[in-house]
Amino acid sequence: MIPVNQPYLGEEELKNVVQCLKSGWISSKGEFIKHFEEEFAAFCGMKYGVSVTSGTTALHLALLSLGIKEGDEVILPTFTMVASAYAVLYTGAKPVFVDSEERTWNMDCAKIEELITKRTKAIMPVHIYGHPVDMDPVMKLAKKYKLYVIEDAAEAHGAEYQGRKCGSFGEFGCFSFYANKIITTGEGGMVVTNNKKLAERAELLKDLSHSPGKRFLHTDLGYNYRMTNMQAAVGLGQMHKIKSFISKKRQMASLYSKELEGVAGVRIPIEENWAKSVYWMYSVLIEDSFGLTRDQFRNKMYSLGIETRTFFVPMHQQPVIRKLCPEANKKKYPVADSIAETGLYLPSGLAITKDQILKVCKAVKTIKKAV
Ligand SMILES: Cc1ncc(COP(=O)(O)O)c(C=O)c1O
Repeated sequence: MIPVNQPYLGEEELKNVVQCLKSGWISSKGEFIKHFEEEFAAFCGMKYGVSVTSGTTALHLALLSLGIKEGDEVILPTFTMVASAYAVLYTGAKPVFVDSEERTWNMDCAKIEELITKRTKAIMPVHIYGHPVDMDPVMKLAKKYKLYVIEDAAEAHGAEYQGRKCGSFGEFGCFSFYANKIITTGEGGMVVTNNKKLAERAELLKDLSHSPGKRFLHTDLGYNYRMTNMQAAVGLGQMHKIKSFISKKRQMASLYSKELEGVAGVRIPIEENWAKSVYWMYSVLIEDSFGLTRDQFRNKMYSLGIETRTFFVPMHQQPVIRKLCPEANKKKYPVADSIAETGLYLPSGLAITKDQILKVCKAVKTIKKAV
């Protein structure tokens, strides 16, 4: 079976973890944390990095640090992973969902302004599957209405919008280091920012809000979102390969696209001319002209030894969101509905070989021929 994802871990990660264990600094103090935060923030073109336990807690911490709370509204795409919406809900604020646009499947920036109300405090663009959101319109609206921007760049380490890294536009950029991400720490995440005060606030909140200078005295509610030094030891090793990982993802995408271009009914991902996508996952739509539904196609791929994964279920279709945000239910999101029904991703892990990609493409063509 060719798996949909497999991380790539090397000798440096192993050496770092051993060193970490031998040092005894296995919790959240230690040199690896500091170096990992500094190197990752610098890679993003940002001054400060605050490591956390996951991409989900990165988003929550960013919102908390900005003071987002009950009564506020945050605008984000309906087509995203549930953690983006959960993070908003954890603060007591209300997520307000935007439909996707057809080309990149990211939030449709032309539909944001109509959703802004007096309660709107922030916009959360999500760089879906490693392709950047069109950030100019987002930043213009944020300026016009004095809104914060929190980028969910969980899937977009190193992706660029007009030559600038995703995660570097808003008050906070939020990243995940889950095993299937561009770099991994097993579980883990980070917020990056250029604002010293926000970085300090995030540091405090993620570490139980000990009063500065007076440990064990707490004036604010805090959280334990601390990454361990062991995770950072892995992260630092991964960090030194991040450029080659991104090249590998881009080479993978270009081979897939070359092989699949022209297969009727398979819509391959695009890259806008202002974008550098990192193709976190090589994602396609199985359109009507293919002659099979997405799920029929997936089953056939599986029987040929190839694992695939369906697209996210949009937020407005999620029972938990419908229960907590009944208004989301009343609106229509036709683009998100359509891509969620027809989209899937092909094996895209960093450990994938050229032969495996060619085998996947051959399987797609064999299935198509037999329809
Ligand atoms: C867009 C997006 N946001 C947030 C997350 C949450 O990250 P984590 O799984 O590290 O909590 C993910 C994870 O897959 C994601 O894809």
